[in-house]
Amino acid sequence: MDIDKISKNLTTPYYLYSENLIKENINSYMKHASENTLFCYSVKANSNLSILKLIASMGMGFDVVSRGELFRVMTIGADPKKIVYSGVGKGKDEIKYALECGILCFNVESEGELHAINEQASAINCTANVSIRVNPDVTVETHPYISTGMKENKFGIPYKNALDIYLKASKLQSLKIIGIDFHIGSQITSIGPYLDSLKSIKALIHELKKENIELSHIDVGGGLGIKYKDENIINKDVFISTIIDELNDLNITILFEPGRSVVGDCGILVSQVQYIKETDDKNFLILDASMSELIRPPLYDAYHNITPVYKKESMYKNYDIVGPVCESADFLGKNRPMNVDVSDLVVVEDVGAYGFVLSSNYNTRPKPAEYIISNGNINIIRSADTLDQILANELL
Ligand code: LLP
Repeated sequence: MDIDKISKNLTTPYYLYSENLIKENINSYMKHASENTLFCYSVKANSNLSILKLIASMGMGFDVVSRGELFRVMTIGADPKKIVYSGVGKGKDEIKYALECGILCFNVESEGELHAINEQASAINCTANVSIRVNPDVTVETHPYISTGMKENKFGIPYKNALDIYLKASKLQSLKIIGIDFHIGSQITSIGPYLDSLKSIKALIHELKKENIELSHIDVGGGLGIKYKDENIINKDVFISTIIDELNDLNITILFEPGRSVVGDCGILVSQVQYIKETDDKNFLILDASMSELIRPPLYDAYHNITPVYKKESMYKNYDIVGPVCESADFLGKNRPMNVDVSDLVVVEDVGAYGFVLSSNYNTRPKPAEYIISNGNINIIRSADTLDQILANELL
């Protein structure tokens, strides 16, 4: 659609998503749906209620990591039996709330957590379904901040201790062991680390059987990468079929927790050029969007295409594309050849995942509005913050 025309009535910066693209991504997962698969969208990637509702309406469940995320999916009427709860630091209140909601299962990340869940379940006279998150110690080529399956990461139970933890869990009265899971990182572009992980997880399942611990599901986490620049990404169909084939002999339900690959390439951030500053050493395009709307470039050295809305033929210059925030880390792109004028619009691409959700009010900047294109219409799905809202919880 014509971003110039759309932007006439909207205030920049703003996020804009495409419902069609989200549906396409969901379909490429859901066409593999069967009684032996469950797709649990990882809410952290984009937790806007309208987007969650769309995702639930197409049959996906959810992977949540906090009371807040669980509250969001319960608010849109998600089926609790399709919700898994991950994360290393679940609080007692969070566990209690999840038990009251009747979620499918907790992905447990430590022995302490097993006891905490057991206590909460026993206090309200119910049984908690648990799956143990195992850290398979595989190396993944991604940014170190988003790799999670190596020994030095805080996530999961070390592989060598996992059997012992299962045995301990089996003795706790208010727990029912139903699964095993791993999540090795994010923006993964090769299937190798998944297959390596499955190999050791299958060996563990074998050991568990010998101890009479039978699992009904294996959760392979999320992590599938998308194309931001020139990455060779794993095709979703190939990924899902390979995993299903690999586990065929186990007769077990397979859970997937995709986040980025459902929404990442379905969103853009539209921003306006405020100033152009050219110096002897560097040229800067100063936008009205900043690290407070999109922190991925400074935080993970992430690359996002930045495209001018009006294409011009003449000379291009290299610019660092920056925002108004008072930090040298406030950049959205570096050394980008651009030819734009003040007041022109630019589009930051592929920001549907980990974009708005990681935005902040730093420098007391209002979080931007979010819109979605559905059936050719632009619908607002979150208004921009007002300054009064930002100040509302502060006391004088
Ligand atoms: N399951 C678990 C347990 C996770 O921790 C995550 C993501 C996912 C599923 C979904 O992974 P995905 O399919 O989206 O890769 N903020 C970073 C990404 C952090 C990912 C955290 N965990 C970024 O902007 O790249």
